[in-house]
Amino acid sequence: MELKPELGLRQVGLRFGGRPVVEGIDLGVAKGEVLVLLGPSGCGKTSLLRLMAGLIAPNAGQVTLNGAPPRPGQGTAMVFQSYRLLPWKTVAQNVAFALPDLAPAAVAQRVAEVLALVGLARVADALPAQLSGGMKQRVALARALAPRPDFLLMDEPFAALDAQARELMQMELLRLTGAQGGPGVVFVTHSVDEALVLADRIVLLSPRPGRILARVELPFAAPRWREDPRSHPAYADLRARLWAQLRDAVLNDPQSDFHRAAADLRS
Ligand SMILES: Nc1ncnc2c1ncn2[C@@H]1O[C@H](COP(=O)(O)OP(=O)(O)O)[C@@H](O)[C@H]1O
Ligand SMILES: [Mg+2]
Repeated sequence: MELKPELGLRQVGLRFGGRPVVEGIDLGVAKGEVLVLLGPSGCGKTSLLRLMAGLIAPNAGQVTLNGAPPRPGQGTAMVFQSYRLLPWKTVAQNVAFALPDLAPAAVAQRVAEVLALVGLARVADALPAQLSGGMKQRVALARALAPRPDFLLMDEPFAALDAQARELMQMELLRLTGAQGGPGVVFVTHSVDEALVLADRIVLLSPRPGRILARVELPFAAPRWREDPRSHPAYADLRARLWAQLRDAVLNDPQSDFHRAAADLRS
């Protein structure tokens, strides 16, 4: 039997300059699942993704990808809010950049394939500056998908998009990753709604140092891009519960900008 590729964190702790960033993190995600990390600014979400990508090592516990410590660019691909496209390269060349080990003919074929998948075939020769934010993020997504990673690590990728582009990208992501053999996704956000729309499971993190406050399994039926979870009877309750937990965590955090407003907002 073939083992399902799995990304796991066991009792992971990370410190920067002696200060704890995250503590005691236990997480697992399998290929084909969407795990959302939801938490306030500074709680260590980006650091967790960097640990999963093998870009940094934990100070405590273990991070494993298919049983071994992850190595950068091997089995994972990151997607950032800032797209990180090379401005002097065309869309096709930006995607090809993720395939340094393939022969030119295979690169051309895979680039055409993923651009068609994200609906960008017609702008293959455009430069990033000619594209809208939503299209740039689709290029970044195509580039991440090109080498067929087991896991996409997405760091608030849609936070800079307008509301409409953001919703369309959420649906697009679910469609692309929900397909047979699609990658697992670890998606970082501080939006409760985005978490509820995208996740199979949500892990709620406390303010720094990030610890797991709650784990929520979502009851919405797949494929979620066809049936909007927001019309599910459980949606409003889940949203209220998660938001209350997130809000209380932020209001009770002395490092938060909103800390002093706590008394007012709670009354
Ligand atoms: N390379 C680094 N050196 C020192 N401190 C860092 C470094 N990266 C992140 N931090 C600190 O770790 C904490 C968590 O950061 P981060 O993982 O970016 O949180 P989030 O993505 O949830 O906002 C923050 O207080 C941040 O200032
Ligand atoms: Mg971050």
